[in-house]
Amino acid sequence: MMTRRDPVIAIDGPSGAGKGSVSRAIARALGCRYVDTGAMYRAVAWLAVHEGLALDDEVALGALAAQAELTLDHQTVTVEGHDVTSAIRTAQIDAAAARVARMPRVRDALVRRQREYAATGGLVMEGRDIGTTVFPAADVKIYLDASPDERASRRASDPAHSMGGDAAVLSEVASALAARDQSDRTRQSSPLVMADDAVLVDTTGIALDGVVARVLSIVREHLETRPLY
Ligand code: DC
Repeated sequence: MMTRRDPVIAIDGPSGAGKGSVSRAIARALGCRYVDTGAMYRAVAWLAVHEGLALDDEVALGALAAQAELTLDHQTVTVEGHDVTSAIRTAQIDAAAARVARMPRVRDALVRRQREYAATGGLVMEGRDIGTTVFPAADVKIYLDASPDERASRRASDPAHSMGGDAAVLSEVASALAARDQSDRTRQSSPLVMADDAVLVDTTGIALDGVVARVLSIVREHLETRPLY
C-alpha cells in the first residue's frame, strides 16, 4: 500500500520576516516538529565566544559545529548543557552568528545535522537555505519577506531579542539588520536566495494570524497535490 511520507516544509527568508512565529504555528497546526536552524548557527557562535575561540578560526569553528552537543525543541536551545535560549538573542550573538554562518565548514556540519532531523518524522524547518540546500526536494517551500522598515520594527519590538539590555533604538536595529542581510545575501556559501520553486509570501502590513492562515492554506494545498511514495 502506498503511504504518504512525513512532510518536510521549508520556510526561508531574511531576519524579521516572521519566520519563527509562522513556522511554529504551522508545525503546531500540522502536528510536526519545528526546527529553527538560525538557533543552531547562534548556538555555535555563543559556544565559540564562551570558549574564547577566535571567530575567524574556521577549522576550530567547523569542529565545534560538528561535535557540540546541541538540542532544540519548540521552546529551548541548549549547547553543551548550557541553556542558551535567551543568551543567543543578543546584538553580540546576532553579529557573531552572521560571521560563523559565512564559513563553509560550519555550514557543512550544520546542514548534515539538519538533514538528520528528517529521518525521524515530518518537520517545519526555518532558515535561509532550507529550500535551496538543506532540503532541495522539500514538499513545500515558502519564502517569507517584508519591507526592511517593517522587519526592523518587528525585530525592535521582539521581546526574545534583548538588544544587549538596552532599549532597542529603531535606527540601530535597522542598520544592524541591513548589515546582516547584506552578509547573508552575499556570502559565497549558500547565500540567502529564494528557491525557484518557493512560494513568495510578502508579510508587509499583514498581522501574524493573517500570515499563518495564508501559509497554512498554501501548505495544505501543496500537501494534497504532492506525489505519493
Ligand atoms: O534566523 P536567525 O536570525 O536566528 O539566524 C542567525 C544567523 O544565522 C543569521 O546571520 C543567518 C544565519 N543563518 C544561515 O546562514 N542559514 C540558516 N539556515 C539559518 C540562519
